[in-house]
Amino acid sequence: MKEAIIYDSLSGNTESLAQTIKEQKKDIIYEKIKETTKETIKDINILYIGSPIIKGTCTKKIEDLLMSLENKKIFLFFTAGYGGSKEYYETLKNRILEYISKTNQILGVFFCQGKMNDTVKDRYVDLIKEHPDDRKLQVSLENFEQAKTHPNEKDKEHLIEEIRKINLT
Ligand SMILES: Cc1cc2nc3c(=O)[nH]c(=O)nc-3n(C[C@H](O)[C@H](O)[C@H](O)COP(=O)(O)O)c2cc1C
Repeated sequence: MKEAIIYDSLSGNTESLAQTIKEQKKDIIYEKIKETTKETIKDINILYIGSPIIKGTCTKKIEDLLMSLENKKIFLFFTAGYGGSKEYYETLKNRILEYISKTNQILGVFFCQGKMNDTVKDRYVDLIKEHPDDRKLQVSLENFEQAKTHPNEKDKEHLIEEIRKINLT
């Protein structure tokens, strides 16, 4: 079975998960998504596809790739700024699975948090000054702080565990 890791990443979080998978696999094709990726993966059976969550879904490049796939085995991995809620990940997962044709087999879907840019924090801090009683803003700020250390070693261990669980029969 030929395998490939294809990922997109704006600030390196998802890329660090892609590298973690790569370290576990010998001779795996490894590529940050680009125009020619569809050609690269033509003869690949198993794809590990990663993306950051941007505005509630994967990146457009990954969406286009997912929509083009037929008869592949796919493991998806994502980093998202917001975390700590299974429901949130479940919503994102269902949204993204809609892009994938039923001819493919989903081997697994992994999510963890990924740190965000400090400008996000600055925006929350400014908003809290204007609306000091807004609990939602406080929660968002706490979430920002929580995301700061992710993806961490534990996240990477969980990712490897999930990949080991894959049953390729
Ligand atoms: C423009 C932009 C939009 C984002 N939108 C979301 C979002 O809708 N939901 C979320 O959970 N995180 C969102 N994030 C946070 C990223 O998903 C998170 O920081 C991720 O780990 C970035 O991964 P990367 O370093 O691989 O690009 C957004 C980040 C950016 C820059």
